Amino acid sequence: QWTTSSIVDDQVARIRAEIGDDGHAICALSGGVDSAVAGALVQRAIGDRLTCVFVDHGLLRSGERTQVERDFVAATGVNLVTVDARDQFLTALAGVSDPEEKRKIIGREFIRVFERAARDLKEKGDAEYLVQGTLYPDVVESGGGTGASNIKSHHNVGGLPEDLQFTLVEPLRLLFKDEVRRVGLELGLPETIVQRQPFPGPGLGIRIIGEVTGDRLDTLRAADAIAREELSAAGLDRDIWQCPVVLLADVRSVGVQGDGRTYGHPVVLRPVSSEDAMTADWTRLPYDVLERISTRITNEVAEVNRVVLDVTSKPPGTIEWE
Ligand code: XMP
Repeated sequence: QWTTSSIVDDQVARIRAEIGDDGHAICALSGGVDSAVAGALVQRAIGDRLTCVFVDHGLLRSGERTQVERDFVAATGVNLVTVDARDQFLTALAGVSDPEEKRKIIGREFIRVFERAARDLKEKGDAEYLVQGTLYPDVVESGGGTGASNIKSHHNVGGLPEDLQFTLVEPLRLLFKDEVRRVGLELGLPETIVQRQPFPGPGLGIRIIGEVTGDRLDTLRAADAIAREELSAAGLDRDIWQCPVVLLADVRSVGVQGDGRTYGHPVVLRPVSSEDAMTADWTRLPYDVLERISTRITNEVAEVNRVVLDVTSKPPGTIEWE
């Protein structure tokens, strides 16, 4: 009988056998479900011989760092190293508006930060194994490859270079997303982590159309937090796949607030329904929810004076704007 608790027991036994009695492991946490569950499983197996590394690149949504630093640690007791790389990423992104260039820069800086953290841990003799949250669909997509040459599994932690020289541990290799969520709950991870909607690795950096700056990130973070709050309060989290909020930082429009003229930026709501993100439809959100989101964002976020709704399916639109 293949129950969730038997999957956990089985994987814990396998990880213990693989890493042995004195091996050490490192796990890059993205804030997403897969890396969190993989980390929690390995933590259950080898305890404080696991160190998790979380890179704060400054492109996170409101509360995400806390979710990892407080909730994940509280649920697992894991050793966590947070690397604050916000300045490094902002500096690297200065003056850049092109989407592909942004993605490349964010990927490259992520690898630099993670490599540095991994090297420090390895020098202390702390890590020979690298934990990754590779899922079964990832394995299939990458041609069923095993071990370190598997392209997609590298992509999972931002395209790590071969010469990082760790042995990979991938405890979710045989599982699908819904099973991973059940395993996460079985391990005591909070719903806020286990039921998280997808969020892209490059984060808010690809939801600001135009150059990424600290002020623009603050504006988008505030608008995004309101949209998420209202969608959750309306009980819509499970009905939508995700709802990117996009700041059109290079666009301004005239508005009026109180007695005064405003000349602010629009944000776009991009609620989508999907099975696998390969195709998607725009979600028909209830008008009263849209109204609450719009009213609150334009009242509470000073730089935003207009909220617009993206009614494009995928294709032809992608889910993210960049
Ligand atoms: P698109 O925009 O291609 O997005 O329709 C499909 C899904 O993938 C997510 N996404 C990413 N996830 N790294 C990620 O981990 C990325 O670079 C990335 N780009 C897009 C997106 O949020 C959606 O769920």
